[in-house]
Amino acid sequence: MRRKLVVGNWKMNGDRARNSTLLDQLLSAMPAGVDCAVCAPFPYLPQVGELLAGSGVALGAQDVSEFPDGAHTGDVSVAMLADWGVHFVIVGHSERRAFHGESDGVIARKAAAVLAKELVPIVCFGETLVERESGVTEQVLVRQLDALAANLSPDALQRIVLAYEPVWAIGTGRAATVEQVQAVLVFVRRWLARHLSAPERIRILYGGSVKPETAGGLFGLPDADGGLIGGASLVAESFLEICRAAARAAQGN
Ligand code: PGA
Repeated sequence: MRRKLVVGNWKMNGDRARNSTLLDQLLSAMPAGVDCAVCAPFPYLPQVGELLAGSGVALGAQDVSEFPDGAHTGDVSVAMLADWGVHFVIVGHSERRAFHGESDGVIARKAAAVLAKELVPIVCFGETLVERESGVTEQVLVRQLDALAANLSPDALQRIVLAYEPVWAIGTGRAATVEQVQAVLVFVRRWLARHLSAPERIRILYGGSVKPETAGGLFGLPDADGGLIGGASLVAESFLEICRAAARAAQGN
């Protein structure tokens, strides 16, 4: 059975003092029965890793280079992340795709690099509003997912976490409805069934304006295994409430 997973994506927010306060508040009240992780900006990985040590909350990064080392100024390798105890690495976030021109191929190669070092990529995918409104959502999702199948061995593919993040729902306050999310999850599960021997083991998160009020409905979906949380992960009580919603949904399943 898949365990629920709630991942905070801090994006480019925080400083040493605020990180420390936020983690103090989180760790004093983290519910049991749900896996949880925090993806911090690169400079704070050592600090956040130290504060999380022994807590059961995993350390995550928000991006990584597809290359192992060398002349890639400004980039960070998987080995460097591993050196600081990082477990999860977000790849293919829509902000990387949009602001850094990352293609499906680059993202798939980043996922492969992460898996080669035994870390776990959280691979984001999702359609834009224009794509949804022009009826091409499924084609877009298949294109993004097919790039993974083309670049990862079946063994490696079996170890990823997926995060469905419709671009129009990210940071907009407009979360997808449970019906919209469930339709995509069923579609993705069918895709997984065509590519994997144990597709039921893959966790698929939902991300995009998840709030404490909407988390319960989303996490209660039979094919949803948790969430990737942006804005609400910066407020301890909101993130805790979202983790509690996941823990409750896990008990209900
Ligand atoms: P949001 O971000 O929760 O602020 O919409 C989600 C994400 O970008 O992963």
